[in-house]
Amino acid sequence: MKRVSVGLLGFGTVGTGVVRLLAKDTERLEERANCEIHIAKILVRNKNRARKVLIDNRTLTTDAYEILDDPNIDIIIELIGGIELAYRYILRALRNKKNVITANKDLMASYGEELLLEARTHGCDLYYEASVAGGIPILRTLTDGLSADRIQKMIGIVNGTTNYILSKMSSEGLSYEKALSSAQRLGFAEADPTSDVEGLDAARKMVILSHLAYSIPVRLDDVKIIGITDVSREDIVFAKKLGYTIKLVGISEVNNGAIDVRVEPTLLPDGHPLASVENENNAIYVYSSALGETMYYGAGAGEGPTAVSVVSDLLSVIRNMKLGITGNHIFLPKRELRPRKENL
Ligand code: HSE
Repeated sequence: MKRVSVGLLGFGTVGTGVVRLLAKDTERLEERANCEIHIAKILVRNKNRARKVLIDNRTLTTDAYEILDDPNIDIIIELIGGIELAYRYILRALRNKKNVITANKDLMASYGEELLLEARTHGCDLYYEASVAGGIPILRTLTDGLSADRIQKMIGIVNGTTNYILSKMSSEGLSYEKALSSAQRLGFAEADPTSDVEGLDAARKMVILSHLAYSIPVRLDDVKIIGITDVSREDIVFAKKLGYTIKLVGISEVNNGAIDVRVEPTLLPDGHPLASVENENNAIYVYSSALGETMYYGAGAGEGPTAVSVVSDLLSVIRNMKLGITGNHIFLPKRELRPRKENL
């Protein structure tokens, strides 16, 4: 295998980061992959828009099926976000025996199990490291680094926007509205920031983490969610005086064989490592039987960090292709799958 051809679906912040990283570090990345990595086609909404990164215009297409049905494309990177279209495109790619990488937490939290099963059925890989905590390799940590240990509990700051808002309200006395628009300007917030501030984005990420940590599927509907819209500056100041920091955290634990997952604003003692996670950074604090307490910290959003996760997935998929093991190692939950939603 001398060359791998990649089709990119979506050319927004993360797509730009992926192309930029591959262009900037071509030699090292191709040496690691032990082959040429060729971005064959990119799905865009508008071919004539100005781009932040140099790209041959002939690479761009507005027709997803030109990429999904191209027999010369080996790997699809899905970065369009949202659920419905992304689901259809990934399903088509897998059925066409293409390996898939996605950063789509909304999709993986709701349809991850069935897409993973589909991938395994077709002997394809489906990697999604960038769907949780941006650049922090937390999915690899749960499925690989900690695979010998039993995970009992995780506490995660997994939404950069809300952590940024709470940090700025605390450290600079910004109002909630000002802090939110600053997060939007900096590009961490979702297109509709409701899912950030109301805790849904964090809940989706906790669903993905819980599935991998306990190998039991968790339904988004079963997660109790409270966002940060009712947290005032007075609350933050008052908590500070008492020696606490307010953070939006996701908590996931196994109690008497049942999984409890919730997302809520929480008072953390100032000395707790999670209390010092500032701005858009993320961290996941893991309790496991043998290792004890560990924390995984870093940039949870943004072009560069998220692109690192996507491109690392790309290198893993290329390695698996070379070894002939794509689809064989896919990790599926023990419990029966929910019925497929054929109408999507
Ligand atoms: N809106 C998300 C966040 C982006 O703020 O964490 C990264 O998933």
